[in-house]
Amino acid sequence: MKEKMESLRQRFSKEVENAKNSEAVEKLRVAYLGKKGEVTELLKGLKEVSGDQKKELGQHINQLKRQVEEHLAQKLSQITAMEEQALIDSAEQYDVTLPTAIQSGSYHPVTIIQRQLEEIFASMGFVVEDFKEIVTDYECFEAVNIPKDHPARDMQDTYYLDNGQLLKTHTSAAQNHILRKYGAPCRAIFPGRCFRNEATDASHETTFFQMEGIMVDRNISISNLIYFMKTMLSEVFERDVKVRLRPGFFPFVEPGFELDINCLICGGEGCSTCHHSGWVELCPCGMIHPNVLKEGGIDPEKYTGFAFGLGLTRLVMMKYGVKDIRDLNSGNLKALSQFRHE
Ligand code: PHE
Repeated sequence: MKEKMESLRQRFSKEVENAKNSEAVEKLRVAYLGKKGEVTELLKGLKEVSGDQKKELGQHINQLKRQVEEHLAQKLSQITAMEEQALIDSAEQYDVTLPTAIQSGSYHPVTIIQRQLEEIFASMGFVVEDFKEIVTDYECFEAVNIPKDHPARDMQDTYYLDNGQLLKTHTSAAQNHILRKYGAPCRAIFPGRCFRNEATDASHETTFFQMEGIMVDRNISISNLIYFMKTMLSEVFERDVKVRLRPGFFPFVEPGFELDINCLICGGEGCSTCHHSGWVELCPCGMIHPNVLKEGGIDPEKYTGFAFGLGLTRLVMMKYGVKDIRDLNSGNLKALSQFRHE
C-alpha cells in the first residue's frame, strides 16, 4: 500500500509540474481528489483494512491528501498570476498623455429643441410630463373624443400590437392621464415620440416628435392660447416669425386651429418642405372640447382650457434648415453631430 502511495505521489508531482493552465489544474484536482479520484479511492479502500493498520494508513493517506491539495492550490495561484500578466501584456498599449482623439458626443437636434422648449414653458409655470409610447385605444382616441369608426381615425393609422394596444399617434394620448392627475387648474407640457403608418417623403416620417401643451383654468380663452404660442415661437427662433391661424378640425378641440409659420427654409417662396405653399403647419391647437374635460374629470361649466400639439420635429427642421425629415432618423452622425447646445 505504501509503495502504491509513493508512486502516486511522484506521478502527481510530475503532472502538476507539467500543468500549463488553470483547466489542466482543475482536471488534476478531479482526477485525484474528485468523487472517483485516486486519493479518494485510497481512502475508500481503508474499509478493507483492520485495526491498528487502519489508523496508521489513514493518517498517511490524509497527509497525502493535504499535500495534493496544497500543491494544487500553489500551482493554481502561480498560473492565475501568469495568465493575468499575459492578458495585461497583450492589451492595447496607449499613451495617456496624448490629447483625446475622440470628440465628446452631441445631442440630437430634437433633444436640444425639446429642452429649450421645456425651459421656456417651465418659466411660464408649466410642468413637464412624460408619457408612454404604447397606449390603449381609449387613451389615444376615445378619451379625446374620437369614438370608434370616427373618420378622424383615418388620418392617424398606426401600428397595433396583438393585444389591441397601439403606438401612440399623437401626444394628445396623454391628455386624459394629465387632466386626471392634476385636475383644474393645470398647466402642463408633454413631449413625446409619435408613430403613424405613413408613406414617407421629405416632410413625413413614420416616427416623429410632438410636444403637447394644455392649460386649464377659469376664463381661459383663445387670446391666452395666442399669447403663449407667440411667446414660445419668438423665443425659439430668436426672430420675428410670421404666423397665421386657420380653422382646423380636431375632434378634441372646439374651435380648432392650424397655426402656420412662414417657411424658414425657402423664406416663403416655396420648396419641397412647405409643399410649395410658403407656409408650414407647425402647431395645431384650439380650445379643449367639453367632452375631453368631462372625460378627464373636470367640469366644463366651470373651467375652460386650450391645447396645442406642436410638431417638434418640424420645428427642428425650420430652426436648423433641415430639408429632409428622414435625415433626423437616419443615425447619420455626420449630419446629426453638427448641432450643439448654445
Ligand atoms: N393631436 C393632434 C395631431 O397630432 C394635434 C393637436 C393637439 C390639435 C392639440 C389640437 C390640439 O394631429
